[in-house]
Amino acid sequence: MPANDGVKLELDDIQSGALHGRPSPYVGAYLLLRIDDRADGRELVRRLVAVVDSGRPSADPAHDAWITVGFTYRGLEALGVPQPSLDSFAPEFREGMAARATHLGDVGESSPEHWEQPLGTPDVHIAIAVLSPDLSRLEAVTEKARRAHQELNGISVLWRQDCYQLPTGRTSFGFKDGISQPAVEGSGQPASNPHERPLKAGEIILGYPDETGELPAMPTPDILGRNGTYVVLRKLHTKVAAYRQYLRAKAATREEEALLGAKMVGRWQGGAPLPLSPDRDDPELGGDPQRNNNFLYGDDPRGFKCPVGAHARRANPRDALDSDGSVNVRLHRMIRRGTSYGPELPDGVLEDDGKDRGIIFVFVGAHIKRQFEFVKTQWLNDGIFIGAPSEADPLVGTGDGTTSFTIPQRPIRRRLHDLPPFVTTRGGEYFFAPSLSAMRWLAELP
Ligand code: HEM
Repeated sequence: MPANDGVKLELDDIQSGALHGRPSPYVGAYLLLRIDDRADGRELVRRLVAVVDSGRPSADPAHDAWITVGFTYRGLEALGVPQPSLDSFAPEFREGMAARATHLGDVGESSPEHWEQPLGTPDVHIAIAVLSPDLSRLEAVTEKARRAHQELNGISVLWRQDCYQLPTGRTSFGFKDGISQPAVEGSGQPASNPHERPLKAGEIILGYPDETGELPAMPTPDILGRNGTYVVLRKLHTKVAAYRQYLRAKAATREEEALLGAKMVGRWQGGAPLPLSPDRDDPELGGDPQRNNNFLYGDDPRGFKCPVGAHARRANPRDALDSDGSVNVRLHRMIRRGTSYGPELPDGVLEDDGKDRGIIFVFVGAHIKRQFEFVKTQWLNDGIFIGAPSEADPLVGTGDGTTSFTIPQRPIRRRLHDLPPFVTTRGGEYFFAPSLSAMRWLAELP
């Protein structure tokens, strides 16, 4: 069912990357740039408008290649956005991700002092993300982006991260990802979960009513805020060998390893959700978009099929928190646009090869705080909401070697202890992805 519901989203003004899923397979690149000269910065924005605009989705998204552009607070400052406008952005965006590291659980080896340069520094001003179904189209689009900044001496490219879908079509831990996404009213994109009504457009795009029935706070002037959205980018390194070793140590057989892995994620590696297939992987179910997200947790309150502490159930508890009505899950939904980077660790290898691999986690939404930050801090890093305060997300939580994970089963539950961190943050930033009209406004600032 396409999510239209009468809302007129100004799709021609919204950057494509906000509302459209990535192709599969995909290749892509993220570039971070610094503006050293204001006039060159505005000229770059002027050139980028045309490039972003040329990447509108066609009838067949498998053939699309597009560019998404975002600015940090410092980037908007470098372009000369007037102070009252800068002050009108969400406080967490103004602070930036590095300043919020402790709150987000980016501590120890994930803390900003260990981040990859220039992530988390005031030098990051602009992000350009290029996504394409294949290398030749990627090169063509990257060339457009390169032409936009070449000969502009006041622009420096600081960082490039390539990404691509692994040959398995899965992420480095071996799981199919990107299955469950909320639909958005007026986007025309189909819902992945038939039990979930499309979100009000204002949850994802600024300038429209959100789930509270209100117009969310928006940067001013209107031309700057409307049809824009916030983007969270995090480089998450995955310790695949450590993850495999942990499962090997806790399981007696390969089947049990696969089961423990599935209990931690909430899905089997092939994507089949535990609520629909609690005992064994079902790759056919996992690969069927009509069925692989068609479920709720309400009939499994104790988590016998899918543990309440599993990653996907924490990140989106669906109807499982509805009983006392105190939490409205719809206020904490997230569009994820993550991609994989780095080489695959070959199947069966248990020793770390020292290579950097993981995901570039990308969130898109109108509310960094009550969407991304809430889910990360309250649902993934903490277990109070599921009555297990000492437990964090077994896959991506801030495991410090002392946390545990409970798997409800009869006659007695199983508890996995001493979970080490399997994911470390290598850096990240909060960006604002403006509309095309806002980019023109930025390019023409007096
Ligand atoms: C390296 C880090 C991560 C890995 C490997 C990972 C992996 C996965 C996998 C395999 C799924 C199931 C597939 C799907 O339903 O689409 C999933 C779902 C999800 N993840 Fe993650 N994830 C990571 C980090 C995060 C973070 C940091 C957040 C939020 C702050 C997050 C939020 C979600 C959400 C919202 C879902 C969908 C749940 C649903 O709707 O059922 N993930 N993730």
